[in-house]
Amino acid sequence: MSDPKETELQHLIFGSILVMLLLAVAIITFFIVYQKRLLKEQRRLQKVKDDYQRQLLGFSISIQEKERVRIGQDMHDEIGSALSAIKMLVNQLPYTDVESHQLISGIKNGLSNTISDVRTIANNLFPSVLAKFGLADALHHHVKVLSASNTLKIDMMIDAKFELNYEYELAIYRIMQELINNVINHANAKNLLIILNQTTECILATVKDDGCGFDAEIIEDLIQTGIGIKSIQTRVAAMQASLKITSKKDAGTLIEIHIPLNDGKDQK
Ligand SMILES: Nc1ncnc2c1ncn2[C@@H]1O[C@H](COP(=O)(O)OP(=O)(O)O)[C@@H](O)[C@H]1O
Ligand SMILES: [Mg+2]
Repeated sequence: MSDPKETELQHLIFGSILVMLLLAVAIITFFIVYQKRLLKEQRRLQKVKDDYQRQLLGFSISIQEKERVRIGQDMHDEIGSALSAIKMLVNQLPYTDVESHQLISGIKNGLSNTISDVRTIANNLFPSVLAKFGLADALHHHVKVLSASNTLKIDMMIDAKFELNYEYELAIYRIMQELINNVINHANAKNLLIILNQTTECILATVKDDGCGFDAEIIEDLIQTGIGIKSIQTRVAAMQASLKITSKKDAGTLIEIHIPLNDGKDQK
């Protein structure tokens, strides 16, 4: 028979250990639940912050675009029309001698070139084809105009109708415009391949050139310093899209953009 006092002590020790264990479990459970709530709250705050930043980006892009449209339309309507009127007047000037003939021809040529430049700049600022006919037609038109004055061979494959709202189509158009400009201005490439695919979930844009490329190490610098790439990134962030640049010195550049289609925000 064991001593009742000893049994009582054992019960007491066992009871205390049990209480301590329960307490420890309760504290750990509380800690885990608290951590989970904290993490959930942090994630919620981060999402609010991201949404707010995206909204801000969206606002600043849309203000910028409105200003571009206004300048583009003014250029086209005011300056373009005024120059055309001047050209009509110049056309009526009589040639009195060889010298005046040369002078008037020079003025006519200068005016024609300036009218064409104004039209190109106005169209870049306000892509009227995009507003009227949508993204696919606007890109085809843009590439056609560029191909007429460039030796670069551009292949473009678009297998989508892009039933997107105007802001989305404009953002994608601006991104493609800048990427194509970069190939023309910096790559010294012979071939440019542009692919745009749309699935139910996303749009995939691929721009690949066989030009001079650049070292992978300087991609971050380019992203930090280049205004064009920065503006692409701003638009990419506003659409919650992702941008991947793959380039190698003397081995061309590949740019891939993945644009998720969500919430119907992107729909017409
Ligand atoms: N396709 C390309 N091939 C080679 N270099 C490129 C290409 N695209 C961009 N770059 C390099 O990245 C730099 C930054 O581009 P960007 O941000 O568009 O600025 P910008 O065109 O005004 O120089 C360019 O100056 C050029 O050196
Ligand atoms: Mg550029």
